[in-house]
Parts: sequence; structure tokens; C-alpha cells
Amino acid sequence: MRFGTAISTGGTLDDAGYRDLVRPHCNVLVAENEMKWQALRPSEDRFDFTDADALVNFARNEEIDFRFHTLLWEVEERYPAWLRTYDFGAAPAAEAERLLTGHIARVASTYRDNMTGWDVVNEAVDPATGGYRTSPFSQAFGGMEAVLDTAFRAAREALPDAPLVYNDFMSWGSDGTHRDGVLRLLEGLLNRGTPIDALGLQSHLWGGNEAGDFADEAGWRTFLDEVTGMGLGLVVTELDVNDRDLPADLAVRDARIAEVTRRYLDLTMSYEGLRDVVVWGLVHRYSWLQYFQARADGLQKRGTPFDDDYEPTLMAEAI
Ligand code: XIL
Repeated sequence: MRFGTAISTGGTLDDAGYRDLVRPHCNVLVAENEMKWQALRPSEDRFDFTDADALVNFARNEEIDFRFHTLLWEVEERYPAWLRTYDFGAAPAAEAERLLTGHIARVASTYRDNMTGWDVVNEAVDPATGGYRTSPFSQAFGGMEAVLDTAFRAAREALPDAPLVYNDFMSWGSDGTHRDGVLRLLEGLLNRGTPIDALGLQSHLWGGNEAGDFADEAGWRTFLDEVTGMGLGLVVTELDVNDRDLPADLAVRDARIAEVTRRYLDLTMSYEGLRDVVVWGLVHRYSWLQYFQARADGLQKRGTPFDDDYEPTLMAEAI
């Protein structure tokens, strides 16, 4: 198996203490932001691989594998500003295809020898409805299915042997709308003969109630049965625990975070062929959870496996 973390230039990569945690614990890394369009493609006519290269070079020197994240993130607010307002012209579908396939060909060829797996499309399903989201590309193409087919086919062309992943967060504590939408998306890809190898389970767990959100273990198992029943692999791509609504008491909170993590991984890792467990950051103070849904009491979030002294928490033990 591989275990690893998201890492970032300017923060975690530059912190010697963090690098000292990565070396013994991780054999796979992923770029937290540096391989998104925002970073790699500052404008239509310019690519910038500086930060992404810094991460890849570190991994190569340490003989650590890398996963690519992400060739496309289908959430409009996550597009670079220039692409949100892009003029697709008189033949929008053709122009969108040119832009998207060009991007994928260029980026994939740059890193084709460095990656063990690729997030091709991230978050194309609207969690509220289970239908596809609307994005600048989906509008230009005349629908999300064309976006998905174009992206996965372009990725396969550039990367004939690499595992291609659709990545999403599934809202797995809710009523199943999001999960069902993801299943339909995957079925659609397979029915149309579009290449896809695995589903990326972001695994941003919610530590909000008694059992965390993991009260519905049976529902999660049914979902994973359906995905693997389609012949698709599974990858845990972004594990962390959002402890926004857990009690302030550190002992209670850490125990709950560990419990949710343990239950989730016990079930999810029971699926054969799941090889990668990647957490979305190792150390509390660098975690995106500090600014994503901050706690009302202002206390630091604890949903990553190491504390600010680089000491393992109960979550690390659970993993
Ligand atoms: C997050 C990063 O952690 C933040 O630094 C950034 O501001 C926004 O993106 N799902 C994903 C990741 O697929 O790319 C997101 O990463 C977290 C949620």
C-alpha cells in the first residue's frame, strides 16, 4: 500500500519539520494546489510549472511517488479568473475542446513519467441535486458529458498506462443524492466507452455527531459495492476530519476524530485493490480545515494526524 499527504510550496515543503514527517511516513505525495489550472495556467497562452516542479523534484529526490491532482476541477469558482470569463467565440464546443485537450496534452506530457495516478476530473456532480454541475466548459460544450468524455479520452491518449481517476466527495453522510449522482456519472462514462479506472474518494470526513457522519456504514458499503461492481478501483485521495461541531475538550475531540477515521478506514480499506490512502495534510496548522468552516469558538481544528509539535495524535494511531 501507499500512504501519503498533500504538500504545498511556500508552506509545508519549506518547513524542515514537515519534511522530516513526510520522509518516514509517506511513500506518495500530491500537490495541494500547484497542479490545478489556477497554478499551472496563469493565462490562456502561458503555462507555469515552477511550483509543481519543486514538489515533483522533492518527491523524486526522496524516492516518493506522486499522484496528479487535478486536470480539471468542474466547480466554476475554482476556475482561474481568465477562464471564467473566457470568450469561446462562434463555435464554443470546438474552442472548448481545443483548450481542454491542449491543456491535458501539455500537462500530461510534462508529468507522464512522474505520476502513479491522475485525478482527471474533480467534482462534476452537484451535491444538492445529484445532476451535473454547470461550468464554463459544460456550457461551451453543451453539457457535462462532453466535458467528461473529452477530458478522459485526452488523458488516456497522453497516458496510455496510467490509472485515470474521477474524484469527488460524495457527501456520504447525507441522504445519498450526491452518491447516486456519482454512480450515474460513472455508469455513463462506462456506457459510452470513456476510459476510467478508479473513483477517488476524497474522504473529507465529518466528525459532527455521535458516530461522526459514519453512522450509515451500510450505505457507504452499498456505494462502494456498486462502484467496485462496475470494475472500478478505489483511491482514498484527501482524508481528513472536519471537527467543526465537536466539543472543545481536546481529549473528547481527538478520540472522536480517531474513531471516525478508524471506522471509515476499516470499512473502506477492506476493499481489495485499494492501494492509496492520502491525507489532505499531516499537521493541524497547515490544514485547509483551519479556514474551511472554522469553529465558532475559534479553536484550532484537529482533523489531521499530527499536531503542531509534529507529535502523532489518536488519528495517526487510527490510521
Ligand atoms: C483545497 C486546498 O486545500 C486549499 O488550499 C485551496 O484553497 C482550495 O482547495 N477538495 C479538493 C481539493 O479536491 O483540491 C481541495 O483543496 C479541498 C477539497
